Amino acid sequence: MKKTKIQVLDELRRKALLGGGEKRIEDQHKKGKLTARERIDLLLDDGSFEEIGMFVQHRTADFGLDKQKYLGDGVITGRGSIHGRPVVIFSQDFTVFGGSLSEAHAEKICRVMDLALKLGVPIIGLNDSGGARIQEGVVSLGGYAEIFLRNTLASGVVPQISAVLGPCAGGAVYSPAITDFVFMVKHTSHMFVTGPNVVKTVTHEDISFEDLGGALTHATKSGVAHFAMENEVECLDGIKRILSFIPQNNVDDVPAIATDDDANRKDMELDALVPENPNKPYDMKDIIRKVCDRGDFLEVHELYAPNLIVGFARLGGESVGIIANQPSVLAGVLDIESSLKGARFVRFCDAFNIPLVVLEDVPGFLPGSDQEWRGIIKHGAKLLYAFCEATVPRITVITRKAYGGAYDVMNSKHIRGDVNYAWPTAEIAVMGPKGAVEIIFRKEIEKSTDKEKALEEKVDEYRQKFANPYIAAERGYIDEVIMPHETRSKLIRALKFLENKVDTNPRKKHGNIPL
Ligand code: HXC
Repeated sequence: MKKTKIQVLDELRRKALLGGGEKRIEDQHKKGKLTARERIDLLLDDGSFEEIGMFVQHRTADFGLDKQKYLGDGVITGRGSIHGRPVVIFSQDFTVFGGSLSEAHAEKICRVMDLALKLGVPIIGLNDSGGARIQEGVVSLGGYAEIFLRNTLASGVVPQISAVLGPCAGGAVYSPAITDFVFMVKHTSHMFVTGPNVVKTVTHEDISFEDLGGALTHATKSGVAHFAMENEVECLDGIKRILSFIPQNNVDDVPAIATDDDANRKDMELDALVPENPNKPYDMKDIIRKVCDRGDFLEVHELYAPNLIVGFARLGGESVGIIANQPSVLAGVLDIESSLKGARFVRFCDAFNIPLVVLEDVPGFLPGSDQEWRGIIKHGAKLLYAFCEATVPRITVITRKAYGGAYDVMNSKHIRGDVNYAWPTAEIAVMGPKGAVEIIFRKEIEKSTDKEKALEEKVDEYRQKFANPYIAAERGYIDEVIMPHETRSKLIRALKFLENKVDTNPRKKHGNIPL
């Protein structure tokens, strides 16, 4: 019996929904992975997905490909919403030629990226791909380049979020790398420029997929991944959560969520949180949780450079980016990795108009040949540059140490910090008391009969004179010395005060951040 036109469409749709077929879907599940469509279903609001290009097919005849065609060509693209806010999405389908990227596949991705830029909505890429469609050769490479170009042009205009949910190798890694946040899943996702086999051939190094480019490797060692999730469901939830803190584009309002957490809530425990002994650590995350709405903090790059904490929180309902030194890791010192991490986060927030809140307890930059030879000068300069150019509302609270160059870098008044607070425990000085005394009183101490006592006395004298916030406050570098317990209300009031802040940088094509 001749099929009706309605039946033909129905059949085509069913076929498209099966991707590479039931057997390959089963294989995908056996690997502990969801299919491209299951991922979209979990991520987007129920029933919100509108597919674009369901019937697109590749156009290659080489290597018998003319006999292997799959509707959609290995990537599902479209639009939908998350928490009621529109997004565009592409989700690579590993069941079709291993999710490999053909010319048509790339065109589908580019189409939704172009749409996102026109509409001003976030781009979400769910990557699960064997890389360039080998049978298509250079055409596939061209497709990648088209995507990289769009990733770059969209950077700072609409948020771009990548989840790597399977292999992502070769040049393909550079698309996620350009995006704002990269999520990976432990054990099932891998990113590398060259895989373990090539590594073995070239360097004789024996290394597993997971060690070379697994989620934990990239979340702890390289910093390529911002999040290493336990499984795909957690990963997709993570994407929804991060989107709740960020605006749709670079001219949209930052999302605010009404809170029942009192803006004037005082936390008296904060008054005793900084230890008497300046060399004793404490956990800066305690302060963050006590100050933010409902203690809700989404930490970004939690496992990478933990001596600096960055992430999103809300204050009085408003989304803010928090950058905080962590005295309980390496005394909160700034090193290469933490500078890179901080700089990228500051620039993201500035690009998307998210106010910056800095909590500062920093003894300086990490000394040593390793840091110097690897370029702490140019990498530290990135964090400095990022703060200097930021025009969003910027608030600083110095909880304890603000020493040396690190004082300048961490959103000081001199580099356009808007509201700068210090706790009474703050020590704002060129360097720590002991180091300072050993330099300026070296001869005097050497001459004294009891050197230890002389050193102690001088350290004490220096501490009395400089290790406090009042000299900086006298100069106006600190707007107010505040009680720790009033930090939350002070921050919320400052944010409100800065709500309509307008600041600009000189006209230029772009700056030349020390890369
Ligand atoms: C075409 C591919 C493919 C590819 C996988 N497949 N990768 N088809 N082009 N790049 C197909 C396989 O033939 C197979 O088809 C199906 O996808 C699943 O692949 P398997 O090998 O069976 O799966 P698995 O064992 O899980 O291994 C996954 C893999 C492996 C690690 C990704 O397939 C692999 O190494 N693929 C090649 C990766 C690669 O070298 N890509 C090119 C990199 S260069 P059937 O029909 O059997 O289901 C590159 C340059 C990008 O990407 C540059 C951008 C600038």
